[in-house]
Order: sequence, then C-alpha cells, then structure tokens
Amino acid sequence: MLLHHCTWQEVEARLERSTGIIVPIGSTEQHGPNGLLGTDALCAEVVSHGVGEAVDALVAPTIAVGMAQHHLGFAGSITLRPSTLIAVVCDTVHSLARHGFDRIFFVNGHGGNIATFSAAFSEIYAGRSLHGQGFNPTAVRCRLKNWFDGPAIKSLSEELYGEAEGSHATPSEVSLTQYAFPETAKHVAMSPEIAPKGPIYDAQDYRDRFPDGRIGSNPALASPEAGKRLFDTAVGEVAEEYLRFLKAS
Ligand code: NI
Repeated sequence: MLLHHCTWQEVEARLERSTGIIVPIGSTEQHGPNGLLGTDALCAEVVSHGVGEAVDALVAPTIAVGMAQHHLGFAGSITLRPSTLIAVVCDTVHSLARHGFDRIFFVNGHGGNIATFSAAFSEIYAGRSLHGQGFNPTAVRCRLKNWFDGPAIKSLSEELYGEAEGSHATPSEVSLTQYAFPETAKHVAMSPEIAPKGPIYDAQDYRDRFPDGRIGSNPALASPEAGKRLFDTAVGEVAEEYLRFLKAS
C-alpha cells in the first residue's frame, strides 16, 4: 500500500497493526549513455513497491534526489549536499515517528547515499541519547537496505554480467529500468565496451576519469528479460530483510 494513496484515517488505522514503513531513496544523476537519469530512484521505487505488494508493507513517497555531487559534470544531474540530505532524512524519520512509526526501512538505489545515511541515523539516535525520551519517544530504529548488494542479487548480477557489471551505470540497474519502463529503453554502442575504473572525487575529476559517465560497466548488455529476473530476486531478498527488521528486538 502506498502512503500517498492513503487517507490519514487509513494510515491511523494501519498503525494499529504495523508500525513499520518503507521509504525508497534514490538519486537523480547521469547513468552513462543508455541509463536514465532517474535510474537509482526508479530502481529503489520499483523494488519498494514490489515489496509493498509482496508482504503488505506501507511504502512512502520516493526521495528521488540524493547525494550525487560527483555527477554534476553531466547534464541533468541534481545533488543534495550531505548536510542537506542528513536534514531530509532526519525530518522524514521524525515526521513518521511522531505518528507512531518506529521501524523505518529505507530501500536505497545509490551507493553515494550510504555514508550520508549512516551519519543521518547517528543524528537521529543522538537526539534521544542527548535529550531523552521526549525528543524521540518511539525509540525509532532505522535501516538502510541497498537493493543491489544482497547475496542473492549479487550472485545473479555476477551470473548475468560478470566483470561487465562494474559499479556505476551497471547493466543490472539499467535492466531493471528497462523491465519496469520498457518504453524508455535505449540502445547505444559503448566505447570502450567496459568502462574504466577508479576513485571518485569531485565532479570535474569524475568527468575527466569517466568521460561517458560509466565506471567499470557495460550497460549495453542490459535487457528487460534480465530486469525481470533481477526484480523478482531483489523483491524477495529485500522483503525478507524487511520482515526480519520488523521482528528484531
Ligand atoms: Ni545507479
């Protein structure tokens, strides 16, 4: 069930039986020659909605812009600076906690968000530690789950693409968007076939090292058929982790 398709009375009633909620978090950033700017947000959203249907979870609206400063050398990319994203995460969690949600499960589509989320969660826990129960009365717990790095999905990506998977603009994430939004699929020849690898610093440095935006990947191998397998695997794996998170003490 989607939070944004509910009335407030429906959310209030639902809180009587579950205090968990899923929040998709992505990024709006370049994804190489054939990947959509929305790839990370769309993948997180599609997987989250699949989990919502599979285990009757409530899913909040997607936070579609993340921490992507290193992609700003490419047209269309948007970033929140880390401090802004921390504020967005804290305000989202505190809003939900005010209503009684105490298990906030973020499904993430972007590796660049991970460090900032770790800091945001520490800010949230620090509020209760420093100010007492009045600040965080529900003792909220937060989890960040990357849809792309569980054992089952990693094993499938390895089987499908081996070393051509790379780490940015991967054939796996492009496949998932091609499955979910087939009308957006683009077919572009890659040169070189597998992109270079290297460290990430600022936007200009990134553009110089990775001229077409990819890192270590060959997303020309993407297909909607692979996307269907990746979707099913990711939904199963993320759903299991969400249920474990709800039950954990
Ligand atoms: Ni991505």
